[in-house]
Amino acid sequence: MEQVKKQKNDNRFETPRQILLVYASQTGTAKAFARKIYVRNTDLIDIVDMQHLSVADLRNYEYVIFIVSTYGNGEPPTPCSRFFNDLTHSSFSLSKTLFAILALGDKQFLHYCGFGNQLSHQLIQHQAIPRLPLTEVNRADAAIFKHWWSKLHETMGIQKEQDSETWSIATVMDKEDQVADGTFQFALYVRILENISIECLTVKVEQQGLNLNRIKARVISAACEPFIRVAISTAELGSKREDIQDFLVNSEAGDKWYVRVASDIKHDNV
Ligand SMILES: Cc1cc2nc3c(=O)[nH]c(=O)nc-3n(C[C@H](O)[C@H](O)[C@H](O)COP(=O)(O)O)c2cc1C
Repeated sequence: MEQVKKQKNDNRFETPRQILLVYASQTGTAKAFARKIYVRNTDLIDIVDMQHLSVADLRNYEYVIFIVSTYGNGEPPTPCSRFFNDLTHSSFSLSKTLFAILALGDKQFLHYCGFGNQLSHQLIQHQAIPRLPLTEVNRADAAIFKHWWSKLHETMGIQKEQDSETWSIATVMDKEDQVADGTFQFALYVRILENISIECLTVKVEQQGLNLNRIKARVISAACEPFIRVAISTAELGSKREDIQDFLVNSEAGDKWYVRVASDIKHDNV
């Protein structure tokens, strides 16, 4: 693991890079997101599990990026409590540290993204400077993660995900009941689609960071409607049909999807 290779016995990195990427994870989601960014930026970033981090390490870096999940009553993953406790009780000044936090959580819980918010509060108490607004991610929403990654690219100069330029982000505004066997209807707000003559979109279906498939959505809105309305049929999907149906059934207003204009309604094979 990177942090083992790069840390000396005294818990300091041998030759610190400019940016430190810290993850706090219990079941691996935050770690998987962090690794996606790290593998595109190995020459610029050091990566470390929060359970191996000391407060003093933060001062070796100009930028610190945190990807953290929440457990308990808005608490850190159990192995990361020591770091957070040390930070809370230290009088260290972090006045030269610029930071960004991606807070993972689930809206079903009372203290939604509680640890990310507490961490942000503590860093600011120690004079650290937020470089980006805190971003909350419900149920590992991949599109929010990628959008946040593109903001890191703009503000800290790290490499973007390889294909992120080719997709636009759409916000799900509403979902109608399944209107026919295997067909769902959604109202999407899509910024690229002021051109209402578009007939078809490709939607990249992702869940928990897994690329399930690409599906086609037929645009059925009237020209006067403020949002693009699309219908998606799962009737002709192949082996991943059940996963994609789950994705569609669980989609709700506020979810972000990756979309792009498509030329015809045939489903892609991945
Ligand atoms: C036992 C348990 C408790 C959780 N408590 C919260 C919580 O209080 N607030 C929240 O927003 N999410 C909570 N979550 C959701 C996790 O933070 C979320 O699934 C996150 O993506 C997990 O990231 P990880 O795989 O990196 O640990 C909880 C999840 C579990 C399993």
